[in-house]
Amino acid sequence: MISERLQYIIDVVPILDTIADIGTDHGYIPVNLIKKSRAKKIIASDISKQSLQKAKDIIIKNHFENVIDTRLGNGIDILDIDEADGVIIAGMGGILISKILETSYSNKFINKKPVLILQPVQQAKELRYYLYENNFKITDEYVMQENNKIYHIIIAEKHHKIDDRYDKIAKHKDIYMEFGIINIEKKSELLSKIIRNNIEKIKILINELSKKSVDQQHIDFLKDRLKNMEDIYYETWGTYPKA
Ligand SMILES: C[S@@+](CC[C@H](N)C(=O)[O-])C[C@H]1O[C@@H](n2cnc3c(N)ncnc32)[C@H](O)[C@@H]1O
Repeated sequence: MISERLQYIIDVVPILDTIADIGTDHGYIPVNLIKKSRAKKIIASDISKQSLQKAKDIIIKNHFENVIDTRLGNGIDILDIDEADGVIIAGMGGILISKILETSYSNKFINKKPVLILQPVQQAKELRYYLYENNFKITDEYVMQENNKIYHIIIAEKHHKIDDRYDKIAKHKDIYMEFGIINIEKKSELLSKIIRNNIEKIKILINELSKKSVDQQHIDFLKDRLKNMEDIYYETWGTYPKA
């Protein structure tokens, strides 16, 4: 049995010829993608020899050595030019994911624009900022919960210009980057709950800090964040049910 987070990632990966799983660790993603016939070939890589060994073991156990190639190395440096149609980078911080893309995406993808399936465990906001500001278009995104932890899954592709959506959200940019423009458009029940929880937490924090002699600038920042979050909540879900 694999975790709900991993199952979610596997379920949103489109059917492609060659997929690279960067930072594969246990190797569950490539093995399950092959089991589900999502790819003809997978390149599973990791920067850590020990982690890659775990992947090798599970690949051998499943007799998938002929369809899953394992490579030791940093990020997408391990790929040949235009070798993959899809790239999965999951279970890492959003800043690390953006650094991996920044380091070698443009050297490795000359004629192909692979589908990127990105799953930051934190810093989803920083990753979205990086993607939008570097001409990657977020084509879909999801938010899911497992064991009280919230996970974002972002599908993106290189684009020739900055995504139009990014210009249209200037007023509440930070909140849109935190929760995702498409996620908000989808008006999911889970996201509504997440934003409501955030709103309630900020209100409590502002109340507590206001009683102490805390830097007013920090309180003003929180008030601004609260206002932006409430604006988006009302614009998207209309009413505000009591938490
Ligand atoms: C927490 S595991 C995630 C495993 C799996 N992708 C998942 O989502 O469950 C992160 C893995 O990324 C690897 N990693 C970290 N930085 C990397 C890099 N620059 N290039 C390749 N792998 C990296 C780590 O060695 C580790 O095995």
